[in-house]
Amino acid sequence: MPTRHACDLPALFKQRFGREPMLFRAPGRVNLIGEHTDYNDGFVLPAALDLVTYVAIAPRADRLINVHSLNLGSEVSFDLDGAQQPARNWSDYVRGVAAELLNSGYRLCGADVAIFSTLAMGSGLSASAALEVGFGYALLSVSSEAIDRLKLAQICQRAENEFVGMRCGIMDQFISCHGVAGAALLLDCRSLEARPIPIDPAIRIVVCNTMVHHELASSAFNQRRKECEDAVTLLSPALGGVSALRDVSLTQLHAQAGLLPALIYRRARHVVSENARVMDAVAALEARDFAAVGKLMNASHDSLRDDYNVSCRELEIMVDLSRRAPGTYGARMTGGGFGGCTVSLVSAEAAEGFADVVGPAYKEATGLTPMIFSCYPAAGAGPAHF
Ligand code: GLA
Repeated sequence: MPTRHACDLPALFKQRFGREPMLFRAPGRVNLIGEHTDYNDGFVLPAALDLVTYVAIAPRADRLINVHSLNLGSEVSFDLDGAQQPARNWSDYVRGVAAELLNSGYRLCGADVAIFSTLAMGSGLSASAALEVGFGYALLSVSSEAIDRLKLAQICQRAENEFVGMRCGIMDQFISCHGVAGAALLLDCRSLEARPIPIDPAIRIVVCNTMVHHELASSAFNQRRKECEDAVTLLSPALGGVSALRDVSLTQLHAQAGLLPALIYRRARHVVSENARVMDAVAALEARDFAAVGKLMNASHDSLRDDYNVSCRELEIMVDLSRRAPGTYGARMTGGGFGGCTVSLVSAEAAEGFADVVGPAYKEATGLTPMIFSCYPAAGAGPAHF
C-alpha cells in the first residue's frame, strides 16, 4: 500500500486545479470480532486504522463536481443538478454520496477534488467506506454545512446500498466517522450506541493482507444477507415476531431448527453465536484475559468458514500460520471475506517477530507476498495536515 509520503497531495491539487485546497481524511477499519452481524442488528467491535483516504478540496462557484483519483490516475466530472446515474466504476462511491446528501436536503456547492488513499481498494479494510466518508465530510465542509457524524455514516451506507448495489451494514461507515484513537468500538448496530474499548498496551492488533480478492464477494455478500432475512421470516411466527437475528438466542434457534432448511440454519447459527462472542470478547478484553479473546476470535473464524462459507484457501493458510506463530492469542478473517485480510491478536513482545515468521511461510504456500502490519487504532474522519 502506498504511504502518505508517496504523494504530495496539496502540490498535486494545485498543479491540477490551480489553487490551494482544504484537506480532510477518513480511515479504513479492522474488525476484531462480530462479522456479518451488523446487517442483522447485532454487535461489532471494529477499530479505525491509521491507513486513510485523504481528500483535497476547494469549492467552485458553479454546481460541477470534478474528482481526480491520484491512485488510479482517473478523473470524473458530474453536475449536482443533473440526474445521478451509476457509472459502474470507482466514481459511484462519490456520485452516490453526493446524490444521497442532496436527497437528505443538504445544500451543496460544486467542488474540485483530489483523492489519495493509503488503503488499497479491495484489500478488505473498507477503502470504499473511507472514500465515501472522506468525500462526504469534505463536501459538507466546503458547502458550510454542519456535520452530524451519525447522519453522515448513514448517508454513506445508503449510497453504497442504493447506488453501488452492495447491501452492506453500517459498521464500516460508522467506524470511519466515529473512530477513537487507541480504542476499538463496541457498536450496537440497532441502537447505534457505541462504547470505546481501549486496546491494552500488552497486546497488538496485527493485520495480514492475503493480497487476494475474489470477485464473487459482492454478489455472495448480498446473498448472505438475503439468507439471514429468510431465516427471520421463517422463525418469526414461532418466536413472536422477531425482526432480526439479533433477537434470537442460540437456545431458541436450536429449538426451532426444524423450521429452517439446513443451509439457512447454518447461516443463522453463525450470526446468533457471533453476537454472543462479541459480548464475551469485550468482557474478556476488559478482564485482560487475552487467551480467552483469542479463543473467541478463532471460534469466530471457524464459524465464518464452516457455517457462513465466506472463507477461501488463502485466508485459511494465513489464519493457520498466524495461529501457530509465537505469541498469537487468536486469528481470524476480518471484513466480508473471500480474500482480503486477517486480524490476529498478538502479545506486544511477540508482535515484532510475527511478520518474519508468517510472511515467508505464506509466500511459500501461495506464491504471494503478503502485507503484514501492527495497527494503532486511529480517530475518525476530520481535517488533515500533510
Ligand atoms: C463488509 C460490510 C460490512 C459488514 C462486513 C462483514 O465489510 O461492508 O457492513 O457486513 O462486511 O462483517
